[in-house]
Amino acid sequence: MSSKARHLASETSVRFARFLVSAFRFTQTSLEMTANLPSVCKFNYHVLTINVILSHMEVILIAAITADGFIAQSQDQVSTIWTSKADRAWFAQKTREIGVVVMGKNTYKTIGRPLPGRHNIVYTSNPDIKNRDPQMENLEFTNLDPTNLIKDLELRGYTQVAICGGASIYTLFMQAKLITKMFLTIEPVFFGQGIKLFNNNLTSNKLQLLSSQKLGDEGAILVQYNLFQ
Ligand SMILES: NC(=O)c1ccc[n+]([C@@H]2O[C@H](COP(=O)([O-])OP(=O)(O)OC[C@H]3O[C@@H](n4cnc5c(N)ncnc54)[C@H](OP(=O)(O)O)[C@@H]3O)[C@@H](O)[C@H]2O)c1
Repeated sequence: MSSKARHLASETSVRFARFLVSAFRFTQTSLEMTANLPSVCKFNYHVLTINVILSHMEVILIAAITADGFIAQSQDQVSTIWTSKADRAWFAQKTREIGVVVMGKNTYKTIGRPLPGRHNIVYTSNPDIKNRDPQMENLEFTNLDPTNLIKDLELRGYTQVAICGGASIYTLFMQAKLITKMFLTIEPVFFGQGIKLFNNNLTSNKLQLLSSQKLGDEGAILVQYNLFQ
């Protein structure tokens, strides 16, 4: 079997496993919740629940890390000054394909503007004042609990979302157990110290390697994992 076919088969089985888990939860919950309802209400409830299950969102963590595991030397350092040209091109193409990017305010400040061609959601503890800028239609600020943000994006019709850092936001979504896939670009550089990919404890996650490939000709490697919580 070719590596592409193996990759596809693996993706399909992971999606199917997720579907089975959701279907099991659905059966349990709906049996409990519909016990006392008239039958017409039961039918509508089941249809609604099936729709929710089928619109399962892919929450994709995307990061460039050094060979010693850092994402930056300091919180005001923009990533594009040390990542490879190939990674920057891959990131732009992948996030445009996904359509919506989520980042923390520190990361947003290093970029200085919303990423074009994508909807940008920026985490801050003070979202209200900043949401009033009518100039930037593709930018919004939030302090929603990550689970509620994902539900909100599903309702808006998104099927994928890119979690683009920094460490606080990667950790927030990992701790909420929402990440389903991870793309890491390992750049051939050491920082020795700085900001790590995560900044707090995480309960162990099982990673399944889906692919690894050379990215460009500057020595970067792109690895792709599925995550099981
Ligand atoms: N190599 C890479 O792939 C990569 C990717 C992304 C970022 N980075 C780097 O990472 C560094 C920044 O990382 P960081 O961890 O310092 O900052 P960050 O995650 O970008 O932003 C942290 C800020 O996000 C807001 N925030 C975090 N959790 C929140 C919550 N639960 N609710 C509401 N707001 C919340 C807070 O903003 P307020 O202070 O406004 O409340 C907080 O100060 C930068 O150097 C950046 O370049 C690297």
